[in-house]
Order: sequence, then structure tokens, then C-alpha cells
Amino acid sequence: MKKIVVFTGAGVSADSGISTFRDADGLWANYRIEDVCTPEALKRNRALVVEFYNIRRKELLSVEPNPAHYAIAELEKSFDVEVVTQNVDNLHERAGSSRVTHLHGELMKLRSERNPNLIVPIEGWEQKLDDRAEDGALLRPHIVFFGESVPMFDRATQIAAEADVMVVVGTSLAVYPAAMLVRYARAGVPIYVVDPGNPDVSMIRNPITHIKERGAVGVPQLVEMLKNEYL
Ligand code: OAD
Repeated sequence: MKKIVVFTGAGVSADSGISTFRDADGLWANYRIEDVCTPEALKRNRALVVEFYNIRRKELLSVEPNPAHYAIAELEKSFDVEVVTQNVDNLHERAGSSRVTHLHGELMKLRSERNPNLIVPIEGWEQKLDDRAEDGALLRPHIVFFGESVPMFDRATQIAAEADVMVVVGTSLAVYPAAMLVRYARAGVPIYVVDPGNPDVSMIRNPITHIKERGAVGVPQLVEMLKNEYL
């Protein structure tokens, strides 16, 4: 069975109604990264950081997976599929994808500020400011902030290196090390990009096919193409 590695970013969830980061109306147009997405921000202004992720979580609970997520999940019927996502939402899982690696953490989890391995699920949208972990430390969103290491990256590179086909959906390829994942596909492995914009594909050395559509349209089209081409 051919192995397809699907690498996604905020754009795959855009058609569910979740804002991307770097588009004109994106989150980083309304918030400064250094106020809400750095370890320093968590120390300096914990309330704002916790509120930012509470808003993201509330939004996530009010949306559904879109045809792009469902088409990616459907690929599992015909291929060996691994999803590697930069997204902190759980829409791939809710659409039925069974193997999802989250590079930048998960919104529906919190973790101890003292022990990064003490990770707990959160039921609703609200993290209270004084919520504590079992070890007595304050809880923080289970999110990789800018300036923090990306513990799942090594595992993701191993997955990428096993791909027979790579699919990249809805990422500007602007954030490192995540964007480097495309460099771990073996030489000659085809890379299909679904994005209505112009992601930075300059570091891709493999053959690229760019489907310039939004995810809900382009991903189901691509899945049909892949079935015709590789089955
Ligand atoms: P970006 O906001 O940087 O890029 C979103 C990409 O999605 C762009 O290439 C858009 O053209 C594309 N896009 C927009 N609408 C789309 C649609 N309907 N269907 C498909 N694609 C669409 O988001 P990411 O590349 O995911 O990290 O950003 C990477 C990281 O930067 C995020 O994981 C986040 C952010 O800061 C952290 O928070 C640590």
C-alpha cells in the first residue's frame, strides 16, 4: 500500500470557519505574536494568553470538519496515511483520520507548567486562570509557543521520509522548523500542494503540482486524482 503523508496548516480548517494566521484577515493581523504566543507572554500576561486560547477553543467547539478534512480521512480506505498538522484544532480527528501528529500542540489539552509530559484533556472551552495540574503547578495551554522547541518534529521527519506521495494543504510554509518537513520527502517523491494562495515552495526540491483551490474544493479533487493515479 502506498504511503501518503498529508502535511496541513491553518488553511485546511479555513473552510470550517477558523481564521488562518497570515492571510489579510488572519489572527496575526489582530494579535501580536509576542503578546499571546511566546513563553515570555505567558509569564508577563498570563490572563491574555489564557483568554486568547479560550477564545480559540470556544470557536473550535462551534465548528465542524469540512470536505477537505473528510477527504483526507477517506484516503485511509485506499492508502497508508499519516497526517502531520501544524494545527492545534482536532478537526482531522473529528473527520475520522486515525494517525495525526500535531507539531504545534493541541487546543483541547492543557499541560503542567512544571512538567511538559503531564498533559491533560480539557472538556469545555474554558481554562480558568488558577487551574492546576496534579503536580500542583499551574496548567498552561498545550501549545508550542514561538521560541519553544518542537518535540514532535523528529517523529514528523521520520514519517515524511517514508512517504511515497506528499500532500501539503493550506500552509504558508513560513514557520520553521515545521516548513522544513517538505525537505524530508525522498528525492523524486511527488508533492501535491492545495492552496488558493502562493505558499513559499522555494525550498521544495521535489516535483510539485499546485492545485490552486481552497481546501474544501481542491482536496476532494486531489483525492480522486490520487486514486486514479496510484491505485
Ligand atoms: P498561515 O496563516 O501562515 O497560512 C495559511 C495558508 O492557508 C496560506 O498559504 C493561505 O493561502 C492558505 N489558505 C487560506 N484559505 C484557505 C482555504 N480556504 N483552503 C486552503 N488553504 C487556504 O498558516 P500556517 O502555515 O498553518 O503556529 O501557519 C503556521 C504556524 O504559524 C501555525 O501553526 C501557528 C502560526 O503562528 C503557532 O501558533 C505556533
